[in-house]
Amino acid sequence: MLNCRRRLFGRFASLALIGLLALPVAALGQEQIGHAQQAIAHDGMVVAQEGTAARIGVDILQRGGNAVDAAVAVGFALAVSYPRAGNLGGGGFMVIHLADGRNTAIDYRETAPQAITDKSFLDANGNADPQKSRNSALAIGVPGTVAGLALAEEKYGSGRFTLADLIAPAVALARDGIVLTGQTLAPAPFDPSRLRRWPSSAKIFFKPDGSAFAPGDRLIQADLANSLDVIAKGGPQAFYQGPIAQRIAAAVQAAGGIMTADDLKIYRAIERTPVHGTYRGYDIVSMPPPSSGGIELIEMLNILEGYDLAHDDQAQELFLMIEAMKRAYADRALYLGDPDEVQNPVTRLTSKDYAAKWRATIDPVRATPASAIHAGGIIEPEGRNTTHFSVVDRFGNAVANTYTLNFIYGLGMVADGTGILLNNELDDFAAKPDSPNAFGLTGYKANAPGPGKRPLSSMTPTIVLKDGKPFIVTGSPGGSRITTAVLQVIVNVIDRGMDIADAVSAPRVHDQWVPDQVFAEPGLPENVLTALRARGDKIVPQRPFTSANSIMITPGAFVGAADPREGGALAVGY
Ligand code: DON
Repeated sequence: MLNCRRRLFGRFASLALIGLLALPVAALGQEQIGHAQQAIAHDGMVVAQEGTAARIGVDILQRGGNAVDAAVAVGFALAVSYPRAGNLGGGGFMVIHLADGRNTAIDYRETAPQAITDKSFLDANGNADPQKSRNSALAIGVPGTVAGLALAEEKYGSGRFTLADLIAPAVALARDGIVLTGQTLAPAPFDPSRLRRWPSSAKIFFKPDGSAFAPGDRLIQADLANSLDVIAKGGPQAFYQGPIAQRIAAAVQAAGGIMTADDLKIYRAIERTPVHGTYRGYDIVSMPPPSSGGIELIEMLNILEGYDLAHDDQAQELFLMIEAMKRAYADRALYLGDPDEVQNPVTRLTSKDYAAKWRATIDPVRATPASAIHAGGIIEPEGRNTTHFSVVDRFGNAVANTYTLNFIYGLGMVADGTGILLNNELDDFAAKPDSPNAFGLTGYKANAPGPGKRPLSSMTPTIVLKDGKPFIVTGSPGGSRITTAVLQVIVNVIDRGMDIADAVSAPRVHDQWVPDQVFAEPGLPENVLTALRARGDKIVPQRPFTSANSIMITPGAFVGAADPREGGALAVGY
């Protein structure tokens, strides 16, 4: 481990310097974090980033559906009511706990088209070209959402509903329109030109004269309604083969991309075994690769288990979490990638012994400088473009689902005639060793672009079990900051004894090894920040980030907490 750190230091020291000098990450104002909207119910609960979709999920639960039925309905509904992240044209992950005790995970991450190479995102000089991986049609991965939701329903739905039944509310929302709120379309700091530059998108998301919609206006998505209807009638094949697939491939190619109808035809969602860990007697069930989230989460919890966080003061608790974060993110960069293409050392990284070795490298009073380990990266201030929802039912099933288009509205491009916004997920590959993606994450061979390969994700849908039964269902958007948000929700509950609303609302910190900075949300006491600085942490204030819509299952009640950071999230049950 230390050898590996030395090796990395040698390789990247000069880049680190450049990265650190060039870092444009600045304090983005001090918006305060409100308190989570909380709901208490006994028979079912959905917490999602948009209220209409959350209510659609609860309606399915009330009609006898299970948590998977509800999650599938919410997933389709958010594609209409929360178009900047809810999607048909992106991908994600669903972690499921079944009432009979089984745990499973559905991987519906996007794949790279067959024609991709490890040079696809480089410029003429062989340098990583973010224009290509973030802003061009080359960035579009083969969408996985329709296959993933359909697979989840087919295998784990209650059988009371057809897929068409679960899509029907989304069709109606798209056809009849949704009344826009200030939150729906363009949250700051979104740049509307990302959508406007595509005529196929501009004609849907702007008024005919090109001006922006205002709160109270109705957004009708007729093409999307038709696409949803076609999927409802024909099943997932109707998305991956036939007119929708042809339109997607044609739109991608017309914009200079390389996806073909065949890439869509061969797409498969994959059921995987979740990663499993334990933390102070609780079981942690989370997403395996191609997400790094579950492994990193378990690695961090294993490191932290060796400390008495419950009795540490807040500064020391945060300091130790930050040290654990750096080490887990270092491993992410080096080791992790698509499990169908590379060997991920899952067992080793999630073992207690491995964590003990890392723990031995932590100086309890002095920050380990990340600059001594790796190169600097840049985190784009943009965020809020993935979305997480949590669902539980009265039967004992639970679903944690995180899905995304990557950036807000993904590439911003609707495949003309389908109403479907396409992702720019392939920026999550390491375009070149050491070249950071939009979230400042670097990687190596394990996460190099390759045909049919799934880019490494940070999405961390997670279910914490107590005595084998769901206790916390959580997850978050936020790019690289997702996994540390999930970590803090769990530690806040288990170590700090907070209820779920407090655990979700409490200000969070984030360290991802590079850049060598601790991002801190507003609201942390000044004496805590001073104590962290004294230990050597470089604190960078940031506006509130991530949105961990969570549920806690307490004796006799479900308690939902809608994260207050983004606005518009709703916890609702019955
Ligand atoms: O899969 C990932 O890790 C990223 N594509 C997720 C992007 C994201 O969360 C954006 N933010 N809110």
